[in-house]
Amino acid sequence: MLNVVVLVSGGGTNLQALIDAQNRGEITGGKITRVISSKPGAYALTRAENAGIPWEVIDRKACGSREEFDQKILEALQRAKADLVVLAGFMLILGEKVIKAFENKIINVHPALIPSFCGEGFYGLRVHEAALSYGVKLTGATVHFVNEQADAGAIILQKAVEVKNGDTPEILQKRVMEQAEWKILPKAVSLFCQGKIEIQDGKAVVLE
Ligand code: GAR
Repeated sequence: MLNVVVLVSGGGTNLQALIDAQNRGEITGGKITRVISSKPGAYALTRAENAGIPWEVIDRKACGSREEFDQKILEALQRAKADLVVLAGFMLILGEKVIKAFENKIINVHPALIPSFCGEGFYGLRVHEAALSYGVKLTGATVHFVNEQADAGAIILQKAVEVKNGDTPEILQKRVMEQAEWKILPKAVSLFCQGKIEIQDGKAVVLE
């Protein structure tokens, strides 16, 4: 069984999707053993508590520097013996030290079809605002490995979602979550835990 550690910053609906998938027996070969939040009081922590999953807070604001925060995250992941780190609504970019220590073992869910609407500054509702202001007719979600550049690691899974007339960023966010994020994130975690994702020539290949 692989130890899956989930990093969160907010509401935690993606964490909930992982917990629900685990309870349905859909995460093969792994178990969520810890939740770490960068924000005290994040509702994601209540979800962890309700599911009986140990959790902790590493408060970004309480850390004097980026380096101190990264060091604390690194130590927490090592203490938790994380085999897979899942960024599920984690709103910060991890430092190089953490990424190097867990190379090809950190995955992120992004609420757009990368390489559209991604990179620094594109997170949460801002992504959907950008998609609506561009006028795309399709958007979606991506699960990818995390490397040193924001949203630039190898893509594991993507799912497209329709943009509809009259969508607001909030309506579109909800549709992308329901139709894409909450489906592909648990699927990617299960594939990883079964050893079914390989990196070949810098790309992720899913062995089905
Ligand atoms: C989700 O849409 C997630 O993809 C996005 O923030 C939302 C968090 O929701 N993450 C990012 O934009 C990270 N770059 P949640 O806390 O309810 O899972």
